[in-house]
Amino acid sequence: MTPQSSTENPFTLGVASGDPLPDSVVLWTRLAPCPHEPGNGLPREGAIPVDWELARDEHFRRVVRCGTAQARAEDSHTLHVDPRGLDPDSVYWYRFRTGPWISPAGRTRTAPEPHATVASMRFGMLSCQQYDEGYYTALRHLADEDLDAVFFLGDYIYENAIDAQAGVRNYTDQPLPDFYNHWLIDLDDFRQRYALGKTDPDLQAAHAAHPWYVTWDDHEVENNYAGDISQGNLPPEQFRARRAAAYRAYWENMPLRRAQRPSGADLRLHRRFQYGRLAQFDILDTRQYRSDQAYGDGWKYPGPESENPARTLTGAEQERWLLDGWRESTATWNVVAQQVVFSQRKNTTAARSKVSMDAWDGYPASRARVLAGVEQAGIENLVVLTGDVHVNYAMDIKKDFNAPDSRTLGVELVGTSVSSGFDGDDRPDDWSGMLAANPHMKFYNGRRGYVIVTLDAERLRADFRTVSGVVVPGAPVTTAASFVSPAGAPGFRPA
Ligand SMILES: [Fe+2]
Repeated sequence: MTPQSSTENPFTLGVASGDPLPDSVVLWTRLAPCPHEPGNGLPREGAIPVDWELARDEHFRRVVRCGTAQARAEDSHTLHVDPRGLDPDSVYWYRFRTGPWISPAGRTRTAPEPHATVASMRFGMLSCQQYDEGYYTALRHLADEDLDAVFFLGDYIYENAIDAQAGVRNYTDQPLPDFYNHWLIDLDDFRQRYALGKTDPDLQAAHAAHPWYVTWDDHEVENNYAGDISQGNLPPEQFRARRAAAYRAYWENMPLRRAQRPSGADLRLHRRFQYGRLAQFDILDTRQYRSDQAYGDGWKYPGPESENPARTLTGAEQERWLLDGWRESTATWNVVAQQVVFSQRKNTTAARSKVSMDAWDGYPASRARVLAGVEQAGIENLVVLTGDVHVNYAMDIKKDFNAPDSRTLGVELVGTSVSSGFDGDDRPDDWSGMLAANPHMKFYNGRRGYVIVTLDAERLRADFRTVSGVVVPGAPVTTAASFVSPAGAPGFRPA
């Protein structure tokens, strides 16, 4: 069966674009006439030709590039079209066609030239969209925002079993097939979990509206894995096989270039983008190369094991690449898009207090080397973007987190989840305790949503956009708080 002979629309999973460069942006889709079947109702071998076109207008009257690409069975019929020679800093529209079927149109945008003067840039940041814990209401609102790009910071899928009702989504009229009701192990499992998520109309709208820069965290493979080490300490070769399947399905389903196509269980996800002279974006991978969590993971007292300087969160090669990139940077803002909380978070005001062994707090030598690199490179405007913890924080990055008067080296924005953790609360149980224990924490909120960041020559502005709930669809979005940090003098204050 091919779409040409099929009566089923193969464009059930939407379109996406990503990793904008001044002359190119990746255009993505996946053919899936039967999205809930392993193989998506397509042959397991061969390829299906798909026409694509790129236009300057949403009605496709001024088509500037077109071509035919092969949706290959070995890539689960995904496309990663990489047209070159585009104009910088420009809006484009794209769509795909096979047989009688035309995909929805996507809107995207190229990056400015590296030396261009850019007055301002506005992007969204989001993470953590556990399908069965809530609707993707935040993504629907994100689609309506006026943005240049979106940064996705990990946990695009989760590896848990999903029942026929899809958890709180309560699909009683059209229950999900039993296929989803087991933990993700092999390639079909991971491929189908992406297909399930991508059937969501709100996720499709968010991808179709903006180009995304993506990175992953742990749940794209398994909770809190570290390099080759699984949470439950599977034999490493067994875990590497699972990681290879997970990484393969990740590349297939994200708007990434061929340079990111994995080889076995290895995928180079850390990469760098310039946005004119305004911003440099370093996208990190703090999962693939990290040392195992100290003290068996969780919230623990720091000690010789966690403080061992031989341990690393980034791996030596990625750390060198990051620091070298800063030395050569001439951007006003140096933005690091990554997964786990960078700033210190103590859970009590006591001098000796537990910290999260899965975050940078569990790898203090790694953090110290990175902050030394910031100072050595003369980076004035460090901005760290973070996901993972399903709450919003605005934090000042201190030279010495235990000395509130020490220099502020940058700022960190931690964005809440899209849906993971159900509805959330404005003030989670540990709200006052965390703020008291961490004077560099200027804001803490536990609702679902996303963050809008606006950069210009004078300042960074962050708007924390939250929805009242995700267990029931259709909640409106509001701004819970807004903060600014001046260029050249980092530190958050209310806007
Ligand atoms: Fe998460």
